[in-house]
Amino acid sequence: MKILITGGAGYIGSVLTPTLLAQGYDVTVLDNFMFRQNSLADCCQYEGFQVVRGDCRDEAVVKELLSDADVIIPLAALVGAPLCQKDKISTQTTNFEAVKMLCSLASNDQRILMPVTNSGYGIGEAGKFCTEDTPLRPISLYGVTKVEAEKAVLERENSITFRLATVFGMSSRMRIDLLVNDFVYRAVHDRAILVFEGHFKRNYIHIRDVAKVFLHGIKNFEKMQGKPYNVGLEDANLSKLELCEEIKKHLPKFVYIEAPIGEDPDKRDYIVSNARILNTGFEPEWSLNRGIKELIKGYTILRNSLYSNI
Ligand SMILES: NC(=O)c1ccc[n+]([C@@H]2O[C@H](COP(=O)([O-])OP(=O)(O)OC[C@H]3O[C@@H](n4cnc5c(N)ncnc54)[C@H](O)[C@@H]3O)[C@@H](O)[C@H]2O)c1
Repeated sequence: MKILITGGAGYIGSVLTPTLLAQGYDVTVLDNFMFRQNSLADCCQYEGFQVVRGDCRDEAVVKELLSDADVIIPLAALVGAPLCQKDKISTQTTNFEAVKMLCSLASNDQRILMPVTNSGYGIGEAGKFCTEDTPLRPISLYGVTKVEAEKAVLERENSITFRLATVFGMSSRMRIDLLVNDFVYRAVHDRAILVFEGHFKRNYIHIRDVAKVFLHGIKNFEKMQGKPYNVGLEDANLSKLELCEEIKKHLPKFVYIEAPIGEDPDKRDYIVSNARILNTGFEPEWSLNRGIKELIKGYTILRNSLYSNI
């Protein structure tokens, strides 16, 4: 089976691509390498790995790559509300229009599996579990473009979307701007953080379980197609302050203080039910605590010390 991944050199792609190659799939990655990342270097050993440096908005490039794909995983995007706010035009064209173009170029028998954010769930629904039927009402441009892209994907046949909780864990193209990754980074290197909206609840999923859910979707496509699936840890609907408590169990000297220093651009405060994906036989393997231990090891290697002597 041949898989095309756009944005396959990003945080998620850099774990997903080698996972699929190790399982024997042929994988082609289209990425513009906007972070100058070298995270797929290890994948070059596989005969079945192809890589194209290019833009997912380039119709000619996408058309040619599609001609050979059985499964398409669109990951290319400007990811996160702050980055999207900085470049609104690229956000609209990459996150939404490129996905719409992909849907129109793909034939009906090609399968699309796409991740989207679950930000926007639960606005005004505090304390109520959000299911896939809860309306998504994102506020940020990032959230809005991802929700529009999901609609375009689910309008065609042969598609699945995964509404991912906040992803955590180590990747060879690391993102320390994600909530758990960020808090653990600060706990390791600064030993203290100021938390805003500390009682707002979020849910979480490890990056290797994200790779696992894509594999699960590929293998069980026929029974899963045509629907969105929430993907998060059932036992990790935690507030930011509860997350800090978990981190403190591993790093007892960590100090956290609440202060009104900011607000979430998507006002995320919700608890999510993952019953639909669990009912298809999917089981996550990585707990929050296992991921925190992994991150503490990872941050012994990673430091933002470009302009400092230590
Ligand atoms: N990380 C999360 O918590 C999370 C949660 C929900 C959904 N997602 C979705 O998963 C996908 C991947 O996210 P990520 O965390 O790996 O982000 P990322 O920023 O690490 O990856 C995005 C990748 O897309 C590439 N890219 C950007 N613009 C491109 C373009 N025009 N043409 C080709 N390549 C381009 C980048 O070089 C990068 O490799 C995104 O669609 C995101 O919305 C992520």
